[in-house]
Amino acid sequence: MTVTTPLPLGIDVGGSGIKGAPVDLDAGALTTERLRIDTPEHSTPAAVADVIARIVDAFTDEIGPGAPIGVTIPGVVMHGVVKTAANIDSSWIDCPIEDLLEQRLGRDIVVVNDADAAGVGELQHGAAAGRSGLVIVTTLGTGIGTAMLYDGVLVPNSEFGHLEVDGQDAESRAAASARNRDALGWREYAARLSRYYQALESVTWPDLFVVGGGISRRADKFLPLIECRTPLVAASLANTAGIIGAARLAADAQGERGRHTA
Ligand code: BGC
Repeated sequence: MTVTTPLPLGIDVGGSGIKGAPVDLDAGALTTERLRIDTPEHSTPAAVADVIARIVDAFTDEIGPGAPIGVTIPGVVMHGVVKTAANIDSSWIDCPIEDLLEQRLGRDIVVVNDADAAGVGELQHGAAAGRSGLVIVTTLGTGIGTAMLYDGVLVPNSEFGHLEVDGQDAESRAAASARNRDALGWREYAARLSRYYQALESVTWPDLFVVGGGISRRADKFLPLIECRTPLVAASLANTAGIIGAARLAADAQGERGRHTA
């Protein structure tokens, strides 16, 4: 008899789109093209849950009934409850999104911070693979997300995008959105990133920074211009890191639950 293990599904909730796909964890790759649905204009938990349900439905045949499902949210997530909402609707604060989704979908769901998921993706299959010591993955997008990984273990919700740098919230100056808003050239943007990475390394002393987020596709334009003591490399999974990491974290959590109930 062939036993087929259900494929995990990763879903990445972003400011403009909600994207999901089944993941082959051995290959560290999506098994099929990701499905992207626009984030609802008024992106309350209920409206986002509707979109997540549509994505799960779309992949039901591929993933099977007991599949692990990992969902990312751009805010602090403690034990399935969202605690902050820097770039999302304020109604997310204190929302028990994991329970809400589990009731709605009748499945086990794991909800994690978006940068933590991207960090785990890069650690398992990308630019942080095989790196020991302290690795900090940063995602430069609407905000700045960070994942802190020590010897391959994630310390969740590090939130170093909100370090105070030169008297300001770091992400308001150094996120990719700030580069667009202020129409910065690469050199000017790299100067802001230098300030940011210098501030970050002075309180964390990492072995490596991995620079992710959509803008990492253009890393050759700004990475060599960043001045800091810690080595920097570009993320390698581009926009699939969050989906892959979320699927991995959900599969691990399901394995843990299995061990506890065995
Ligand atoms: C949030 C983080 C999130 C990051 C990237 C920040 O504003 O506080 O939780 O990881 O944006 O989306």
